[in-house]
Formats: sequence, C-alpha cells, structure tokens
Amino acid sequence: MQFRLSEEHEMMRKMVREFALNEVAPTAAERDEKEIFDRTIFDKMGELGLAGIPWDEEVGGGGADYLSYVIAVEELSRVCASTGVTLSAHISLAGWPLYKFGSPEQKQRFLRPMAEGKKLGAYGLTEPGSGSDAAGMKTTAVRDGDDYILNGSKIFITNGGDAEIYVVFAVTDPALKHKGITAFIVEKGTPGFSFGKKEKKLGIRSSPTLEIIFDNCRIPASQRLGEEGQGFKIAMMTLDGGRNGIAAQAVGIAQGALDAALAYAKERKQFGKPLSQLQAIQFKLADMATQVEAARLLTYQAAWLESNGLPYGKASAMAKLFAGDIAMQVTTEAVQIFGGYGYTREYPVERMMRDAKITQIYEGTNEIQRVVISNYLLKE
Ligand code: CAA
Repeated sequence: MQFRLSEEHEMMRKMVREFALNEVAPTAAERDEKEIFDRTIFDKMGELGLAGIPWDEEVGGGGADYLSYVIAVEELSRVCASTGVTLSAHISLAGWPLYKFGSPEQKQRFLRPMAEGKKLGAYGLTEPGSGSDAAGMKTTAVRDGDDYILNGSKIFITNGGDAEIYVVFAVTDPALKHKGITAFIVEKGTPGFSFGKKEKKLGIRSSPTLEIIFDNCRIPASQRLGEEGQGFKIAMMTLDGGRNGIAAQAVGIAQGALDAALAYAKERKQFGKPLSQLQAIQFKLADMATQVEAARLLTYQAAWLESNGLPYGKASAMAKLFAGDIAMQVTTEAVQIFGGYGYTREYPVERMMRDAKITQIYEGTNEIQRVVISNYLLKE
C-alpha cells in the first residue's frame, strides 16, 4: 500500500493549484455575485490539457488517470466550486459515456474537440418529474427512418446553454421501462433543440444550470450512443464515476474553507491573543482537518480503483456521500470561526458554505448514495 502521490500526480496538483490561484481565484467572488460563467477559464483549462485529462491521446486526451482528474477538480474547487463542477460535468458526465460507449467516428467527431477544450460538454438526465427516480423520465425519441425525433425537456443541466455537446437520455420504448431508455448525442444549434429557464441558485452561481428543450428535434441515428435500450445502464455507469468527481469537488471546497479558517484563526485576535490559541477553535480546526483528510482518502481510493480497472461504484458513492456531508460541516464550522465576518461576503467562507450544499444533492442525493451503497452491500 502506497499513501504518497506519484511525481506525476504531484505535478498535476502543482500545475492546477497555480492555475487556480492565478486565473480562477481572483474573479471567483465576482463571478458568484454576478452569476457569470466565464468561458475563457475553460478555454485556458483546455490549453493546459485539463479538458481531457483521463482520455487516451488518440482521442485528444491527456493520457493520465482518474486520480489526476480528481486532483484537478479538487484544486479548482478549493478556490471556486463552480469551476470545479464545470470540469467535472464536462469530463465525467459528458466525456466518459462518449469515451466508453462512443463509436470511433463519434469519438473523433464529438469527444476529440471536447478533450482538446474546444467544445464544452453537458449531460441531460433529470426532468421536471424525474430526479432521484431517473428511470421515470418522459422525454421520448421516436425512430423515423434514419433519424430519431426527440420531444421533452431536461432540467438542472450543468454547463447548459454554454456547452456544445449534450449526452441526453430518452425513452425509445415506454413498455420496457428502464430497458427502453436510449442515449443520444445532441449538438447545440440542432433545429428543435433550445434552452429554457436559467436557474437562480443558492451556490455554484457561476456555473450555469439550465433547462434544455426538445421540440421535434431530429437527430441522425449515427448520434445514438450505444444500443437502443442501453441508455439507463450508460446513465448509471456514468454516474458511478461522476459521483467521485463531486466527491473531489466537495473535498476541494472543504479544504478551501479549512485553509481560510486556519489563516484567519492565526491572525484574528480576541481576549488579547489569536483565536488559534483558544482550545475551542483548535478543536474545531482539528476536527475539520481530520474530516477533510478522510474524505480525500475515500475519493482518491475510488479514483485509484477506476484507474486500475477495478469496481469503483460503491467506493465512489461512499466518497460522494462522506465528502458531501463533511463539506457542509467543515464550511459551516469555517463560517463559525470567522464569526460575524464569516457571514458576510467580505470573506470567501460564506460562498463556500453555499457551494457545499449542492454536493449533498446533485449526481444523486446523499440519500440515493445510501441506496446505491446498500444495494452493493446486499449483493456482495
Ligand atoms: N451500473 C450498471 N448498471 C446499473 C447500475 C450501475 N451503477 N445501477 C443500476 N444498474 C442497472 C441494474 O443492474 C438494473 O439492470 P437490470 O434491469 O438489467 O437488472 C437496472 O439498472 C435498474 O436498476 P435499479 O432497479 O436499481 O434502478 P432504479 O430505477 O431502482 O434506480 C437508482 C436506481 C440508484 C435510484 C437510480 O435511479 C439513481 O441513481 N437515481 C439518482 C439519479 C441521479 O443521480 N441523478 C443525477 C443527475 S445528473 C446531475 O446531477 C448532474 C449535475 O448537475 C452535475
């Protein structure tokens, strides 16, 4: 067992950390306040080779592993959780199913520009009437000659509106329930494909979350991903890895809050000494650091399993569950250490606490993670 990161992983952390501090952190508060998605940040990530970290070089990827990828999401989220989820949704949710299930032609046409950072990806599963019960979707895809015609809408789409490539799921045979769901690749600009309401959110406010609408949207059968009826499995398998991206985001948010609280505790004086000399604060910091480290280890373990071709669904759900919960606890404690100042927008911990909440909700609520984990336990 080896508890040290390799030189390659340390280099990834250093590179992303520098990028995050220089290019992402300075505008994080303003982008949050004004709800601005800054595409140039994604463009720069593409230039650095971050947009396709775990894909093979033959599809334009970085040829690295999933541990490198989660380290990148963690370091981005340490300063800006919105930027972390932009990359996570792009790689885990849109890129992964293309990489695993795409034909060679689909990979060159859709995945390569994504891996090179020229196009942004998104994933459309959730609908107004089906969130946790993903198989209950109502969007339909009806075969018509060499095409499919899509009708319906998907909500809460991360990167929605700004993404060029969407991996979406629709019912091709309602009688077959989850076995009648099929995956499709839809490009921005396709007639009949449009964008609806943009959500106004508590946190991750500089990550766009939109409704996407299909109104007799005609998609060539060559843009079906995988086989007819394979869509639900593709969606679930995609989420297995995606959840670890969210665990990494949660670890990053929590570490960012711990960094800020630690620095503040050393500097802020009350009762004639720094807060860091008060045992009440020291104990909080110790608990926060222990929680962050435990969440990080679960996250890295799940990434290591995936990188080594071992089953990782349960580990990924555990990482997401634990990291999401501790991100909420650690950011709340960070605000508490800052006291009144922590409740204002003068310091970043208020934003981090708002951002942390979503990690307990998306890519499967933490209640759904418990369903997933217990399903694995009962099958083992
Ligand atoms: N891998 C492969 N196959 C899987 C699987 C997995 N991880 N999970 C389930 N399946 C298969 C099962 O084996 C089963 O196959 P068979 O019929 O061949 O036996 C089939 O799928 C149905 O499985 P279940 O009966 O367990 O399905 P269910 O309808 O009870 O749902 C669920 C299970 C875990 C609750 C699932 O619906 C789920 O994960 N819900 C949460 C949805 C979710 O995470 N949404 C997130 C949206 S994306 C997002 O949030 C993005 C963002 O903003 C960043």
